[in-house]
Amino acid sequence: MSVKIISKTCTGPVNIAVIKYWGKRDEKLILPINASLSGTLDQQQLRAKTTVAASAGFTKDRMWLNGQEQSLDNPRLQNVLKEIRRRARKRKSGCEDDLDMLTWRVHICSENNFPTAAGLASSAAGLACLVFSLSKLFNVDGDISDIARQGSGSACRSVYGGFVEWEMGKEKDGSDSVARQVASENHWPEMRVLILVVSADKKHVGSTAGMQTSVKTSPLLKHRAEKIVPERMQAMIEAIQKKDFESFADLTMKDSNQFHSVCLDTYPPISYMTDISHKIVRMVHAINAHFKKSVLAYTFDAGPNACLYLLEDHVPLVLGFINHFFPYDVNNEQYIRGLLSEPQKPEQKL
Ligand code: DP6
Repeated sequence: MSVKIISKTCTGPVNIAVIKYWGKRDEKLILPINASLSGTLDQQQLRAKTTVAASAGFTKDRMWLNGQEQSLDNPRLQNVLKEIRRRARKRKSGCEDDLDMLTWRVHICSENNFPTAAGLASSAAGLACLVFSLSKLFNVDGDISDIARQGSGSACRSVYGGFVEWEMGKEKDGSDSVARQVASENHWPEMRVLILVVSADKKHVGSTAGMQTSVKTSPLLKHRAEKIVPERMQAMIEAIQKKDFESFADLTMKDSNQFHSVCLDTYPPISYMTDISHKIVRMVHAINAHFKKSVLAYTFDAGPNACLYLLEDHVPLVLGFINHFFPYDVNNEQYIRGLLSEPQKPEQKL
């Protein structure tokens, strides 16, 4: 007798924050202490890919990440699965066949085509992709960003394309802490992102643990969340809407610098940027000084890799500078690779 297996395969994009999320007010629901904003990248070079399958023949939920079986005992993954099934059940009451499927166990197989846990937003792409694939498998529609948020905070922004805001929200149950699109992927078609991979090693302190220590110990983080980010979010949204690159770039760089200052203000301090990262910062400011305005913006997440936002016209020149200052050297473990990406929507490949 053959046992039916239903499966869906989807891909999910990386997002790069220009106003950073760092710190939670609720660890379980993953509710942030400030709003954040990011650009969603296209999926040519960086993407997560997930296949989810459900069958009456599976005896338990199982998951593989980049070919290695992972434990599903993780409370975040459990919350995601529970919430998807709850929404599917709510939607399908009355439909016998579908209800049957809700009792089936799932097998999840996920892979990234870029370094996992190296500060390249791998968890955001992976979790957004997982939630997206599960929503397709169980026919859950409507906003799923709050489910992705419960997998990994920044993942909620990868659910939408273009520029995306994660609203902090006020409700205790997290119902208003959702992602919304600020500008679509077609709004600023000249925008490019160049990622300079300084190191593909796993980061020394993960984001979850790092931000917990910052919340406990950094007075600068509290000041940032209460006094700086609300105004900065408004200014950033305005800069994006007006396509004012200079303001966008200045705000992006200042926010990255403040996030890394918070990391240093954390006790014991966390340092994600390396000498090479700082050299990239100096190069960007030298290029901007040459143009007498900001034509290039850097931003660094919880790792040493630089994400540069720039407009298409400046790509050849900036690549020239990068090749000059950071020539590829195979004897040196530290190398730099440039990837061009356009913000775009999550793509569903069935
Ligand atoms: C520095 O979303 O990875 O990239 O919610 O604990 O899973 P958890 O953290 P995560 O943190 C990302 C932090 C950041 C900034 C950002 O993307 O906004």
